[in-house]
Amino acid sequence: MNPHPDPFAYRRQFLKFLAASPLLLPEIQSLTLQDMPLIKSPAEALNVFDFEPVAKQKIPPAHWGYMATGVDDDATLRANRTAFSRFQIRPRRLVDGSHVDTSTELFGMKWKTPIFFSPVSSQRAFHEEGEVAVARAAKSRDHLMILSTVSSTGIEQAIQAREAPIWYQLYPTDSWTITQALVKRAETAGAPAIVFTVDNIAGRNTETDRRFARLDTRQCASCHLPDGPRNSAGNSISSKPMFRGLDLSGVTELYNASFTWDFVRRLRDVVKGKLLLKGIETREDAQLCLQHGVDGIIVSNHGGRSVETGRGTIESLAEVVDAVHGRVPVMIDSGFRRGTDIFKALALGAKAVGIGRPYVWGLGAFGQPGVEKVLDILRAETELIMKQTGAASISKLDRSFIIERP
Ligand code: FNR
Repeated sequence: MNPHPDPFAYRRQFLKFLAASPLLLPEIQSLTLQDMPLIKSPAEALNVFDFEPVAKQKIPPAHWGYMATGVDDDATLRANRTAFSRFQIRPRRLVDGSHVDTSTELFGMKWKTPIFFSPVSSQRAFHEEGEVAVARAAKSRDHLMILSTVSSTGIEQAIQAREAPIWYQLYPTDSWTITQALVKRAETAGAPAIVFTVDNIAGRNTETDRRFARLDTRQCASCHLPDGPRNSAGNSISSKPMFRGLDLSGVTELYNASFTWDFVRRLRDVVKGKLLLKGIETREDAQLCLQHGVDGIIVSNHGGRSVETGRGTIESLAEVVDAVHGRVPVMIDSGFRRGTDIFKALALGAKAVGIGRPYVWGLGAFGQPGVEKVLDILRAETELIMKQTGAASISKLDRSFIIERP
């Protein structure tokens, strides 16, 4: 039985009945998108938003709140979406659009698509197969995946499901011994890149998360251990697979608010493969990345989960791209839901675009097939806008394809 019955099901049924009667045309005309029936399978989805209400119905309230939340009033979360409307598209006409090349290259490796999975923690909170389902979807559609430090699956198992290397996102904790152990384990498993997330170090105020948690009446003690160092949601990390077997007695947090660029230098010496920083939003920090030997940058505001009343990341992108002058690849995430959003980032100089919540909606709604359909939709939308605008390949996309309103 569905533990979270759809409160609008009866209303929708009634509206369906009304729709059958020709005398009731005005009522039909007053219907809004919210009145439409939820999709029952991935194949019915017209866009990635179609997965969200289905996932909301299936995911327990506390887990839903954790995923949906921004910080304080969720203003940065909203800015990530509204900012795209400041950039409009300038299409070119009569360019052969029969084939477009959506491939991109990162560190000498070619990807058929610029869309990648940003790291999202604890994915078994959204679907029983969690990261394994996501890794299988990444394999079947050949996408880059980044695994979170606080994943609910160890990196070895995720790589096994992906059947190829994945990147590893690092929350270093406040113990250097643990930092080194996490990096070593990820690299030994085959991760060619370590992504150090720097936008969440000082803590955060996730009010939406806390409000949804109050609606949840389940007994959660078996998953959320009472002891040990905690993440920003206040949950113990001791049970997370990437920390198993490690002595966490000296660890109090996932992050250390006293970190500075010296820590990046230290990390650079330990990481054998590529080192990226995730959460950069300014030209000043982009330049510091270069000075500290960072190999790549992910422009991100953590999906609006870090600093409140910030810019949408699409508004931060150009200054970062300009600051690095092509010396390292710049990637981006936060708020991407449409092919046109992806197009705008690529036109501004991003090499790849990450998604977080959209694939979690797909996962929560239908597991692996839901994640795959989310990718299919975003790829099709991206291809379509490239064809429509005469952008034959990502390398041909530049700022002449968009215009920014003040
Ligand atoms: C995240 N994000 C994240 N980032 C990270 O570096 N490590 C992590 O463990 C997590 N965990 C996490 C959990 C959940 C539930 C969400 C929604 C996000 C941030 C993530 O990598 C990415 O930056 C955003 O999700 C991108 O924004 P959208 O696509 O969700 O709007």
